[in-house]
Amino acid sequence: YNQKMRKVTIVGGAGNVGATCANVLAHDNCVQEIVMLDLNGNMAKGKALDSWQQAPIGEYSSRLIGTDNYADTADSDIVVITAGLPRKPGMSRDDLIAINAKIVTEVVGKILQYSANPIIIVVSNPLDVMTYAALKASKLPAHRVMGMAGILDTARYRAFLAEALNVSPRDIQALLMGGHGDTMVPLPRYTTVAGIPVTELLDADTLDKIVKRTAVGGGELVQLMGTSAWYAPGAAAAQMVSAIVRNENRVFPCCAFLNGEYGINDLCVGVPVKLGKNGIEKIYEVQLTDDEKALLHKSAAAVREVVDVCRNLGFA
Ligand code: LAC
Repeated sequence: YNQKMRKVTIVGGAGNVGATCANVLAHDNCVQEIVMLDLNGNMAKGKALDSWQQAPIGEYSSRLIGTDNYADTADSDIVVITAGLPRKPGMSRDDLIAINAKIVTEVVGKILQYSANPIIIVVSNPLDVMTYAALKASKLPAHRVMGMAGILDTARYRAFLAEALNVSPRDIQALLMGGHGDTMVPLPRYTTVAGIPVTELLDADTLDKIVKRTAVGGGELVQLMGTSAWYAPGAAAAQMVSAIVRNENRVFPCCAFLNGEYGINDLCVGVPVKLGKNGIEKIYEVQLTDDEKALLHKSAAAVREVVDVCRNLGFA
C-alpha cells in the first residue's frame, strides 16, 4: 500500500474518541507513528504510553506519542480532529456549535503551520458543519477534508439489523446518507444481508423501528452514559485512516463536500465515497426514489441551517 504515509496525528488524542481511534489504529499496524495531541498533555502522554505498552500483546509496531505541542505533529499525512466538547444529555449535536466551531477552526490553523498538505478527517460535532468549517479554514482541496459519521451510523444500523436477524453483523452491507443528526437517511433499499435485500427478510414495521433507532443512536448512548459514545466512533475514524493509508479504495458513507451531486451545493453531508491515498477518490451518485431524495434534501437543509449559524458567528 501507500508506503509514503507514515504519520497520523489525532487532535483530542486524550479524549475518549481520540484515544480509542489511536488504539484501534495501532492494532491495524498500518502507520509508523501516531501522535496523540491534546490540551491535556499528561493524559495524552499517559494514554499513548499505555497504548504503546499494549504493542507486545496486540502485536503491532506503530509508535504512539502523546503531546500538547503542535510542533510534534509536523509532517503528518493524516490528521483526525476529535477536539471539542461532547454532548450532555438533552443536548443536540447542534448545541455544540459555537464552542466547537472555534476549536476546530483554531486546530486547523495550527495543524497547517506544521503539515502543509494533510488529509483531514473531522470527528467533532456537529459533524457535517465542523467538516465544512474545517474545509473552509484549511483551504485544502475538497477531496482532502472529510468527516466521519456514515461508518458509525451504518455500524449502528448494521448492529441493530444483525440482532433482529440473528446473523453476523459482518454480513450486513448498508448505505446511509445525509447529515449526522436525527434527520440522517438510512436506506433499506440499499441494505443487504450477504446480497439478499433486507426488505425480503424483515417486515416494514421492524425495519422502520430499526431505522428510527439508528437515527437517534448517538442520543441513546448519551442518555445512558451522560456523555457521547467512543468505541464505535473511534474505530470508525480509524477505519477511514486505514483505508487511506493502505490506498484500498474502500467504499464508505462519509461526510463530503458536495458541488452539485444529488442537487446539493456548497455543503458537506454524508454520501457514499471511495477512499484511497488522495482522500476522497470518488463520490458515488446512486439513484434515489423521490421519497429518499426528499429525505436527503430535508437532512441537507437541516445541516445548512447550522452552517448559516456557524457563518453568522464568523466561522466557515
Ligand atoms: C455519536 C456522536 C459521537 O453519534 O456523534 O455517538
